[in-house]
Amino acid sequence: MTHTRAVRLPSDGNIERGKAVSMKVNGVAITAYEGESVASALMCEGISTMRTTVAGDPRGVFCGMGVCFECLVNVDGVASTRACMTWVKEGMDVKTQNGLQANK
Ligand code: FES
Repeated sequence: MTHTRAVRLPSDGNIERGKAVSMKVNGVAITAYEGESVASALMCEGISTMRTTVAGDPRGVFCGMGVCFECLVNVDGVASTRACMTWVKEGMDVKTQNGLQANK
């Protein structure tokens, strides 16, 4: 059986990162890279709790492919955006959520 790779690595084996972008997470400036999801950018910053339930239970990336809705964050004022399905962009403003409310 022959498998094909979704992403081909350059022949030298080095993986090239996308262009650096500046964005904010809960008011703190961070650097992410084009081609990364908001979820990966948050996890690289050590943020695994992306929202809490209305009862206050922590939630974060579970499926990583847009199915479970556990990774909801506020992106540029739009609440309940799936972090795993949203790509980082220059100037993006991301806030984790408490229930349905964005953190300040
Ligand atoms: S981690 Fe499941 S929808 Fe984002």
